[in-house]
Amino acid sequence: MSSNIVWHQASIAKEERHNKNKHQSFILWFTGLSASGKSSVANAFARTLFDRGAQSFVLDGDNVRHGLNSDLGFGEEDRKENIRRIGEVSKLFVESGQIVLTAFISPYRADRDLVRSLVGENEFLEVYVKCSVEECEKRDPKGLYKKARNEEIKNFTGISAPYEEPLHPEIILDTEKHSVEECVKQLTKALIERGLI
Ligand code: PPS
Repeated sequence: MSSNIVWHQASIAKEERHNKNKHQSFILWFTGLSASGKSSVANAFARTLFDRGAQSFVLDGDNVRHGLNSDLGFGEEDRKENIRRIGEVSKLFVESGQIVLTAFISPYRADRDLVRSLVGENEFLEVYVKCSVEECEKRDPKGLYKKARNEEIKNFTGISAPYEEPLHPEIILDTEKHSVEECVKQLTKALIERGLI
């Protein structure tokens, strides 16, 4: 970073935004395999938050890779950079008073922990969207597992690239056992219990 860059203090404090919005701002970091249900649950929960009058926004892997991160692939270094950028963007959203719902595979623990350390413990909740590779492969909504098995896609998470399960996620949603609606109820309960919404 250039030494000639100076941080400019915002005129509206984050706390003022919290007071106005009547809720805290934080990141709900959904992590899990492709087809585990990250985007479905995040988007369904965003609707619940919207209907409750909360300020929220979903950042989704496929969408962000169309624009901001269109220069990145799926090797380890590119995934790391993908998550670093999303972490920084999410931090800005948190500053703006939003509840940010991020839906990225984010397979590496160290990358997820980096985002946690960027915003701090109180503003980061890791949501493990748990689903076995076998079940994700059965679902295969985009036909990507099939391509990965045929080696048409390299470095595919769960098949030819690693997924490091969260060790201490704040919330676990088991999408093999529970429907999207049930997961949304579990999330709502967890956030109310924490006094976050
Ligand atoms: S990561 O690992 O966090 O950087 O990945 P992410 O940005 O979430 O992008 C995942 C989506 O990209 C598609 N895709 C792949 N996923 C995993 N491995 C490989 N090699 C790959 N190639 C393309 C896939 O549609 C993922 O979307 P989801 O919604 O997770 O199924």
